[in-house]
Amino acid sequence: MANIRHPIVDVHTHVYLPQYAAELRARTSAPRILNWTNGVKTEERLLILDGEPSGGRPVGPQYWDRDEKLEFMRRHGINISFVSSANPWLDFLPADRAQTLAHELNNNLEEYCATSPPAEGLSGLKTLYGFGLLPLVPDVEVSAIVQAIEYLKSLPHIRGVIMGTKGIGKGLDDSALDPIWDAIQAARLVVFIHPHYGVDSTAFGENDNGHVLPLALGFPFETTIAITRLILSGVLDRFPDLRLLLAHSGGALPQLSSRLASCIQHDPIVANRLKHDLRYYLGQLYFDAVAYGPEELTFVSRTISRASAFKNGGGTVDPVVGSSRLLFGTDHPFFPPLEASQKWPSVESNLAAIRGMPGVDSKPEHQANILGLNALRLFDLHDQVYT
Ligand code: URA
Ligand code: ZN
Repeated sequence: MANIRHPIVDVHTHVYLPQYAAELRARTSAPRILNWTNGVKTEERLLILDGEPSGGRPVGPQYWDRDEKLEFMRRHGINISFVSSANPWLDFLPADRAQTLAHELNNNLEEYCATSPPAEGLSGLKTLYGFGLLPLVPDVEVSAIVQAIEYLKSLPHIRGVIMGTKGIGKGLDDSALDPIWDAIQAARLVVFIHPHYGVDSTAFGENDNGHVLPLALGFPFETTIAITRLILSGVLDRFPDLRLLLAHSGGALPQLSSRLASCIQHDPIVANRLKHDLRYYLGQLYFDAVAYGPEELTFVSRTISRASAFKNGGGTVDPVVGSSRLLFGTDHPFFPPLEASQKWPSVESNLAAIRGMPGVDSKPEHQANILGLNALRLFDLHDQVYT
């Protein structure tokens, strides 16, 4: 079959693999899956944080059953998905259990992807690829994490790793992570950075607003803070070829990047620490397009484009350059419709946002990049299909 010119590729889509769900069911404190009874009805609920609003959320097969993922993809015209374990990964486990489970779950994910159907019209590709897990918890030897990276590199359908914001306990600006960044960069794995903890929930007041404030604000601010700290610690200067993909379009980083740059320039402790203006580093990062609005995506794209102007202090800004670092995602199985519907509004709005981006709406080739071709390039699969 001829190659599809405009495949749709989802880089932000999660699974709780059956073995991980079993681990959560066996627990008595968050994160856990528990049976929840409301009158006559009993359902399984996922509680990922202590004190989570509204008693957690209902979970079912869409969280672990591969057929449900494939059906969701078919329904939304998605050709390939890069599937990652959902939060909170292995963060809550003691070191030895985190190491064993990381290894087993990585093998399970490789199998989940390797046995998926061929991607129709995309010669030699599967429908599913994955981001593996690393045992990123305190007390695991860094050398064991490096070994896990080398093992992941040997799994053909694992193309990256998903990571929260805690590193091995002290955050992503911990210099103890340098051998890990080094190994990931050498292995050419993509790092998907995803939030879990949000911000201090006292900021959200006492009204029950469901999950709105932690998801819409807490998550993106957690990512914003984690990546800013990583940049300030010089990780992107030391590892310029590291490929970091930021969840939820980088949170507030694009919007706050000039303010951050100015604060850096006026701070005697930080002013001369980095090789470049902070805005330069946005051009070194990748952003999912999970922002739900066309204007927001154009804004992100423009701040990425602008990064080139801060390279060696000059250069012109091409407003669509940034679209080469934006990648479609869905966040499935989260954000299901509240009422039965064939297509999920959360997905439809992200697709419409990409197609309606001011400045990109009249350029189908840039839309095709964001919808799928950028992902195939980032994960080194593009040339296999298109040359
Ligand atoms: N809620 C989560 O806990 N994780 C996601 O990725 C999205 C929503
Ligand atoms: Zn997500």
